[in-house]
Amino acid sequence: MIQYFRFYTIITVIFCFLNISSAQTDRAIEDKITTLLAKMTIEEKIGQMTQFSAPVDSFIDLIRAGLVGSILNLTGAERVNAIQKIAVEESRLGIPLINGRDVIHGFRTIFPIPLGETATWSPDFVKEAARIAAREASASGVHWTFAPMVDIARDARWGRISEGAGEDTYMGKIMAAARVKGFQGEKLSDPETIAACVKHFAAYGAAEAGKDYNTVDISERTLREVYLPPFKAGIDAGAATLMCSFNEISGVPSSGNKFLLTDILRSEWAFKGFVVSDWQSVTEMINHGNVADTLEAALLAAEAGVDTEMVSGSYNKFLVQAVKNGQFPEEKINEMVRRILRVKFQLGLFDNPYTDSNREKTELLSDQNRRFAREISAKAIVLLKNENEILPLKKNLKSIALIGPLADNQLDPLGCWFCNGRADELVSVLQGFKNKIVYGTKINYVKGCEIKGEEEPDLQEAVKAAMNADVAVCVVGESFDMSGEAGSRARLGLPGRQLDLIKTVYETGVPVVVVLMNGRPLAIPWIAENIPAILETWHLGTECGNAIADVIFGDVNPGGKLPASFPRAVGQEPLYYNHKNTGRPPVQKTRFITRYYDMPVEPLFPFGYGLSYTTFEFSDLQISKPEIKIGEELKVGVVVKNTGMVKGDEVVQLYIRDLKGSVTRPVKELRGFKRITLEPGESKKIDFTVGKNELSFYDINLNYVVEPGEFHIWIGPNSTEGLHGRFQVVKGQ
Ligand code: BGC
Repeated sequence: MIQYFRFYTIITVIFCFLNISSAQTDRAIEDKITTLLAKMTIEEKIGQMTQFSAPVDSFIDLIRAGLVGSILNLTGAERVNAIQKIAVEESRLGIPLINGRDVIHGFRTIFPIPLGETATWSPDFVKEAARIAAREASASGVHWTFAPMVDIARDARWGRISEGAGEDTYMGKIMAAARVKGFQGEKLSDPETIAACVKHFAAYGAAEAGKDYNTVDISERTLREVYLPPFKAGIDAGAATLMCSFNEISGVPSSGNKFLLTDILRSEWAFKGFVVSDWQSVTEMINHGNVADTLEAALLAAEAGVDTEMVSGSYNKFLVQAVKNGQFPEEKINEMVRRILRVKFQLGLFDNPYTDSNREKTELLSDQNRRFAREISAKAIVLLKNENEILPLKKNLKSIALIGPLADNQLDPLGCWFCNGRADELVSVLQGFKNKIVYGTKINYVKGCEIKGEEEPDLQEAVKAAMNADVAVCVVGESFDMSGEAGSRARLGLPGRQLDLIKTVYETGVPVVVVLMNGRPLAIPWIAENIPAILETWHLGTECGNAIADVIFGDVNPGGKLPASFPRAVGQEPLYYNHKNTGRPPVQKTRFITRYYDMPVEPLFPFGYGLSYTTFEFSDLQISKPEIKIGEELKVGVVVKNTGMVKGDEVVQLYIRDLKGSVTRPVKELRGFKRITLEPGESKKIDFTVGKNELSFYDINLNYVVEPGEFHIWIGPNSTEGLHGRFQVVKGQ
């Protein structure tokens, strides 16, 4: 007991010390900023709020004059150091630059696109990917990434669905926190970490018709319930910065949205970091039509709470004058500059503004980083169909036809925003297969057609290759630029003539495996119906081919699950599992229900879905209490057993439904998940805790509360299957 007490005391003392010392550092930083601010001219202050993009030649004199606070898109330790030297040694106050870059899913070693990383349902892996990306980026002179993108995307037409965690808010929160922690590590001053930037604030993914940059018009309830929580989670995880979005919400573009950038972000959430605009989004308000000219744009953005203006230069042109003639208060400018300088201090840039250029040689694309890329890529693959256990392929087949425009492609699997990744460093599927071959299997490779365009496909060659093979593997999908920014699509099928190619190969009668590479959910009803084996591999990045070969030949058993619903047709979009029930749910077979005349309402593949080379059984659903009071917790659990012949991963998913609320509630909501590995025959009991966090929502008065009533739960392998139970929540005394 005494020993325990001593141990406890020591731990408490250490914690107190750490708290005091971090408060002291915070205090010291604030004091330094105060001293610095006192020396700064108004021009230098606005300079800190100004960001320009490389190449730097056109604004090098502004850097020298201390009139630029940050830059973007400059990489290479020596190049960055040279520019930093000008800021630090030649400008009057020597304030270092902060250098940003879109490090979205890897820097030089490219990992799966964020949607694909999310398909791992493994926050630890996602965090590690961000950690490695930060090590590589920081070695190359990058201090700050414009990531994670935490926009919820319920519409697969929207190209930027590839950059985030998909359709679910709970998942979005978990992944936002994991990525922020991965980028920022334990402390920002560590030279191997970079500052994170949660973006794009807010509701950018709710663009009408899935068209990028388009108008958003949603209720405050939907904003708070669906779109904001991942931002809050990223900020709670310590995100140093935030980027506002291009879109308007209900008539107010985000760059001029005081409600978002000040009322919610500063007053409600007490966010201490700085806000950067999106690329030219400040002056784009002129096109939106809520300001008349660049001066008005600058004033509105600054007033709303944009601290740093990316690229468009309206602050640089007009704010100095506006402050001097009393149009804009200098105290407000001081606050904004303080936030920017704070992040620079936290990053340690004042103590050591330069990057150790030796790190670049050992860090970028190291064997270790590639190994991790291969592992996370294999984990991201989702097995959508596997009839007659056609997969995994045997390693002693005589020959394989490898067909399709993505089979020997080293560029497109890099995906959107591939940063400093290089096509010549990417392992294609063809190469991955060759690396796997041990028993002399012949590979008949035929490209067959282009990814896009209506050019006649080379069907004859494809048929010849298939006829002479034991199996045909068709590698098809989207090019890297068909998703990501400005990558919205009005059609969601395979582009170009790829489906014709697959149909022709299928008609030869040879067993066909389809490997999909894409940046979004695709509508592939014919493939789903006819092709016996389908793998969803997203855009996997540098180790793409090796990871796909690992899965196809059974060295890795796939265990990824979909982070977004796959539609039957584009007309089902926006499509998401956690929709409302409506007054006429599609449970009876009558005409007057919420449904389509011409197709089912259900998705082709639901959220959370994915198969394995083994099978799992869920049993023994337990709910620790039939009733809890508001504020209390209960435990729910199941036993999961691997009932097949090989080791495999299952993602155990917990969904909840609040049957009746003061406002309507979704039919299901993800509230917990665990990816587990089980040996053949092995069982594990998996428990989740259910309490305030899992049961709260915004009530009729927008208060975040738990309401009494009946709740249903499901624990299962995806959003449509699972063991079902219920419990009651009652008022406290
Ligand atoms: C994108 C941002 C990105 C920025 C800087 C913009 O066009 O919307 O996501 O961070 O460019 O590259």
